[in-house]
Amino acid sequence: MGRLQVFDFKNHTEQSFEFGPQINAITGLNGSGKTNILDAIYYLSNTKSFFNGIDQQLIRTGAAFFSLHGWFVDESEYDILISFTDKSKKTVKKNGKTYSRLLDHIGLIQSVFITPYDISLVLDGSEDRRRFMDYTLCQTNREYLENLSFYKKIQDQRNAFLKKCEGRYVDPDVLESFDARLIPSAGKIFATRKQFIADFMPWFYEFYSFLSGNNEQVNIEYLSELHEKEFSEILDDNRERDRILMRTSSGIHKDDLDLNINGFPLKKMGSQGQIKSFVIAMKLAQYRFFLEKTGHKPLLLLDDIFEKIDAQRAGKLMELVANDYFGQIFITDTHAERVKHHLEHVNANKMYFSL
Ligand SMILES: Nc1ncnc2c1ncn2[C@@H]1O[C@H](COP(=O)(O)OP(=O)(O)OP(=O)(O)O)[C@@H](O)[C@H]1O
Ligand SMILES: [Mg+2]
Repeated sequence: MGRLQVFDFKNHTEQSFEFGPQINAITGLNGSGKTNILDAIYYLSNTKSFFNGIDQQLIRTGAAFFSLHGWFVDESEYDILISFTDKSKKTVKKNGKTYSRLLDHIGLIQSVFITPYDISLVLDGSEDRRRFMDYTLCQTNREYLENLSFYKKIQDQRNAFLKKCEGRYVDPDVLESFDARLIPSAGKIFATRKQFIADFMPWFYEFYSFLSGNNEQVNIEYLSELHEKEFSEILDDNRERDRILMRTSSGIHKDDLDLNINGFPLKKMGSQGQIKSFVIAMKLAQYRFFLEKTGHKPLLLLDDIFEKIDAQRAGKLMELVANDYFGQIFITDTHAERVKHHLEHVNANKMYFSL
């Protein structure tokens, strides 16, 4: 991204940046809006915020809309303009032309966001881990994106139907008509997720051992009911339960990733440092996955990276990002001096911005 313009987005009234091709460091006090700038960049690549799914809340308090405008150069040059009004109208334009479906923008620009909030991948429920898989796959696999959005639509319709039945008689023919559509898309999503974990793990191991310098056994296992049984059979087995619960209680929307260290759950047995290395390694492996699948270097957004990790790991990370396969990088920090110090020996084009 060359230029970025931000209007009435979160705490920013009007900001513009001319970014450099490699390392861009954004510094400022707590609450000055550093993370919000990274989120604006993320928004331009994904048409949503990394943190907040409610666009309304991203409009600067008291303003009527926000807009984000980014200029990108890779093989071609293009600009992306996104605006959202308080009437909930979102438009995304590429080179002045409005996309008819927002989904069509997904996959054009990949970004990897590394933030202290990533810890939720370990500590929170399965939804965050599914989102991690889905985000990674949707960016690189159009068929997966279409299947997932189809699956969600049918699942919503099936749930609405079960709800309408109010726990009483459920017409099996109607349910079957939903299932006939769910089953093939679930099968494809399952197969793609399974392959994804297989592709992803070697990079994950490599980054984890590089960052931690340790040789603990870390592992990520893909959990899904579909490993054991055909989805059609699972749906049949759960009909009674679905009727009573009035929702679809099984399926790929229940999948999870089991994160473990030395054979134990990371959440219980990981030290804080181990957990941090684990999630950073997941994100760097995500970066490698994008690079491998698209041939393009994703944007790397490093939020508060020096604040939350120790000096040794920060050094390792800087050693890494100076590597050739990283492209444009955005780093935030509260201390301009600290970020300069860490970047001192990094041989790359560096630009500093303060808010
Ligand atoms: N819609 C909004 N309107 C106005 N201000 C907002 C809006 N959304 C978020 N903010 C404000 O933006 C500020 C936070 O910005 P941000 O998280 O980017 O800061 P930061 O520079 O990253 O701070 P830190 O160093 O603490 O991480 C908060 O004070 C928050 O209240
Ligand atoms: Mg911040």
